Amino acid sequence: MTALHDLGAQRLRDRIAAELARTRARTALLTEAVDDDDLTRQHSPLMSPLVWDLAHVGNQEELWLVRDVGGREPVRRDIDDLYDAFKQPRSDRPALPLLPPAEARAYLATVRDKVHDLLDRVPFTDRPLVADGFAFGMIVQHEQQHDETMLATHQLRAGPPVLPAPPPPEPRARVVEEVVVPAGEFTMGTSTDPWALDNERPARTVRLPGYAIDAAPVTNGRYAEFIADGGYDDPRWWDAAGWRHRTEAGLSAPLHWRRDGDGWAYRRFGRWSAVRADEPVVHVCWHEARAYAAWAGKRLPTEAEWEKAARWDPATGRSRRYPWGDADPGPEHANLGQRHLWPAPVGAYPAGASPLGVHQLIGDVWEWTASPFRGHPGFVAFPYREYSEVFFGDEHRVLRGGSFGTDRAACRGTFRNWDYPIRRQIFSGFRCARDLRPQELAA
Ligand code: AVJ
Ligand code: FE
Repeated sequence: MTALHDLGAQRLRDRIAAELARTRARTALLTEAVDDDDLTRQHSPLMSPLVWDLAHVGNQEELWLVRDVGGREPVRRDIDDLYDAFKQPRSDRPALPLLPPAEARAYLATVRDKVHDLLDRVPFTDRPLVADGFAFGMIVQHEQQHDETMLATHQLRAGPPVLPAPPPPEPRARVVEEVVVPAGEFTMGTSTDPWALDNERPARTVRLPGYAIDAAPVTNGRYAEFIADGGYDDPRWWDAAGWRHRTEAGLSAPLHWRRDGDGWAYRRFGRWSAVRADEPVVHVCWHEARAYAAWAGKRLPTEAEWEKAARWDPATGRSRRYPWGDADPGPEHANLGQRHLWPAPVGAYPAGASPLGVHQLIGDVWEWTASPFRGHPGFVAFPYREYSEVFFGDEHRVLRGGSFGTDRAACRGTFRNWDYPIRRQIFSGFRCARDLRPQELAA
């Protein structure tokens, strides 16, 4: 008896298996590119040793899929505490008795075998954890998030380049300065995207006044003008916390930049080269983004402004999954998935623009927003408070859109990332927004 329902379930199983395999291939690449000494060493106090990320990915897969969804016996209950991110601060992780690389790889393989076994049997019932394969989707996204974290560790690591990648595409379109988004309502968040995480839910109607938003992320060229104009030395552009941080940390340019004659060079995964002016700036913290925006006579967009520019379709009034529509991201839409290991120049993805003509919202660089990380009205923690809820509050700012290091499975128009406003080892950039002027309001 092959009901239509079972056919659907088989298709879901195949899709999950493909996503798990694709994700594991990336994890393998990131952790096989360096030797065991490099894997176990801490490259920055901000980051875990790569071998911690590796076994942590396997441990989360064991906890959620093998034990919770599958109801199976633990594989290694003895290592749960070692790989619990809340019990082990990052700076302490190198001193822990971590599984050596070969053991970590064997552990991941054992867990994955059990997951394939249970994937063949699990009934995709209405139980929220398994409906539409949610727990599997969550675990795919979790591993992809750690793959991006591991890529950031690679960027901090000293030594020659080990990750080859072709350069991103060249510009194919001219992009205007900014776009006006008319006043009105739009749907923010989602209640229907099956693998959307708790903090993206539920969908709700939000009304915004009209505003202007940059049609592209702020470029290195523009950012260098801010530096040349003394932006880092002028307290007018910084808020109190930002000025204090800029002073204590001695900020004077984006992370991984150094002077190069009259201009600037940056280090990209072990290679120094001249900074290219037409690329989105990356490796800036929220305070730097905010200071630039103030210098430019603008401000950072709120999260709602970013999402309306990315998802709202004026022709239908609907919010789409992505700026270009509901189709999954392809290589023509966005610079995602570590295919290219750097942001693409402005104008490289005209096929990925939103209906209003806003470019490169998805991929390239995570974009800082003005908004603190909070739950949408009606938020319900699922399946655990430690994914999002414990981070809600004023100390984190929201980033949107994903970077060149983000996989398409862990990125969509509703996806929300967050970090401390001082962090810049992540692949973070920004675009600016502004209120409309009286004559624009009348138009
Ligand atoms: C959503 C990227 C902030 O890396 O801290 C990984 C994702 N949560 N393991 C992080 C996450 C648990 C999270 N960010
Ligand atoms: Fe994690």
